[in-house]
Amino acid sequence: MARLSLLSSLLFAALSVSKYIVPGGRWHDIDGNLVSAHAGCVTVDKDTGKFWLFGEYKVEGRTEGGGVSVYSSDDLATWESHGLALAPVKGHPYVSPSNIIQRPKVVYSKISNEYHMWWHADNSSYGLLLQGFARSPNISGPYTFVSATAPMGNWSQDFGLFTDYKNGRSYALYSNGDRKEGRDVYLSSYNEDTTDLEQVIHRFDKYDLEAPTILQTEKSYYAMMSHKTGYRPNNVVAFRADSLAGPWSQPFMVAPLNTRTFNSQSGFTLTIKGKKKTTYLYLGDQWDSNSLWESRYIWLPMDIDDKKKSLSLVWTDVYDLDVKTGEWSPVNGKTYYAADAKTSGGATKQEANFASKGTIVTGIYGNDSTVTFEGVEGAGKPQWVSFYYENTDDICNSRKA
Ligand SMILES: *[C@@H]1O[C@H](CO)[C@@H](O)[C@H](O)[C@H]1NC(C)=O
Ligand SMILES: *[C@@H]1O[C@H](CO)[C@@H](O)[C@H](O)[C@H]1NC(C)=O
Ligand SMILES: *[C@@H]1O[C@H](CO)[C@@H](O)[C@H](O)[C@H]1NC(C)=O
Ligand SMILES: *[C@@H]1O[C@H](CO)[C@@H](O)[C@H](O)[C@H]1NC(C)=O
Repeated sequence: MARLSLLSSLLFAALSVSKYIVPGGRWHDIDGNLVSAHAGCVTVDKDTGKFWLFGEYKVEGRTEGGGVSVYSSDDLATWESHGLALAPVKGHPYVSPSNIIQRPKVVYSKISNEYHMWWHADNSSYGLLLQGFARSPNISGPYTFVSATAPMGNWSQDFGLFTDYKNGRSYALYSNGDRKEGRDVYLSSYNEDTTDLEQVIHRFDKYDLEAPTILQTEKSYYAMMSHKTGYRPNNVVAFRADSLAGPWSQPFMVAPLNTRTFNSQSGFTLTIKGKKKTTYLYLGDQWDSNSLWESRYIWLPMDIDDKKKSLSLVWTDVYDLDVKTGEWSPVNGKTYYAADAKTSGGATKQEANFASKGTIVTGIYGNDSTVTFEGVEGAGKPQWVSFYYENTDDICNSRKA
């Protein structure tokens, strides 16, 4: 059993429907429902600049079958639901409630003046390994199913899509499954209309990675992927290259080793080119394997140095992103230390030279041990609280309430 030790807790003066981004918090849309758009993408509306979030819609108590949901936002923090962009169809061979519809991505096609959605299309035993394609004249949908195909005859599992801002072309990224002949990640180019794949640009050979996404800076491409550990997080890695065809660097980690990428899996990246600054965002998923529909989002800014060829995620509990200027800043809270808390039952204080004020509270088991932080002053409105804890398998992180 994991031994939980509380280090401290932090209180933030943030509203519940707020303009702040809170990685790992419970995100609600403006109707008060949990935001359910997992492993998806954010597409920017070409006319209005609005952000549209697409993702797997998870139904309570079920793994699959929810279809693709869509939300819109002007600030990446306040979300309005527009229901399902791709609704499941009973009896359909590829988009029925028992099909797998994963990692949807949406891109604008200039040629047909419509939006194209691509995803990992499969049956419930992952026996098809196809790419689904649907289209809509309206970004919010509804999207009409077109096809589910094998990319140039091969298998396709975890799916990603990337558009190069320099030539306007889109590329698909897909792992080719877990078989011995698979375990690669393909990077293939679409035709100009994004209706079909044309050719393989690069193959990340036998790294056995998944959840791929590509980020483009002025001088580099960074491909980020995770290892295959199901819904448990691991150390996401990045490869760097001057051009999509490579050569690509060896993979390197993007977050401190003991955090398992701050308890998240890669999936998408978003570039905010503001008036003052360009901010690169990592859009990861924090899967809750016990209750998939309650899975959370770890969206973090990245530190990228093209000269040093480095990229790393910047952990921030709560931050304020100005999508117009591109600037972001952490929102600071008040810290309450474990050393000052009251304990009862099995919970006790113990000296620890790594902890603030040299003290942790440990032995917090079951419901007969309590830790009470006193003198907490609220702002008279809903606020975020982060708890800093550590357990014996070495994950140190914060949890939002
Ligand atoms: C999924 O498709 C594969 C390949 O056609 C098939 O062998 C398998 O039985 C299918 N699984 C389900 C649950 O239909
Ligand atoms: C497009 O979607 C928006 C938002 O859901 C809706 O208000 C609008 O009527 C739609 N337009 C068309 C042409 O369907
Ligand atoms: C898919 O590609 C792999 C190499 O990446 C190859 O070994 C395999 O035969 C291909 N599978 C199909 C169905 O084409
Ligand atoms: C405390 O835990 C015990 C054993 O798991 C359980 O029977 C009891 O109902 C719990 N009490 C409360 C107040 O949750």
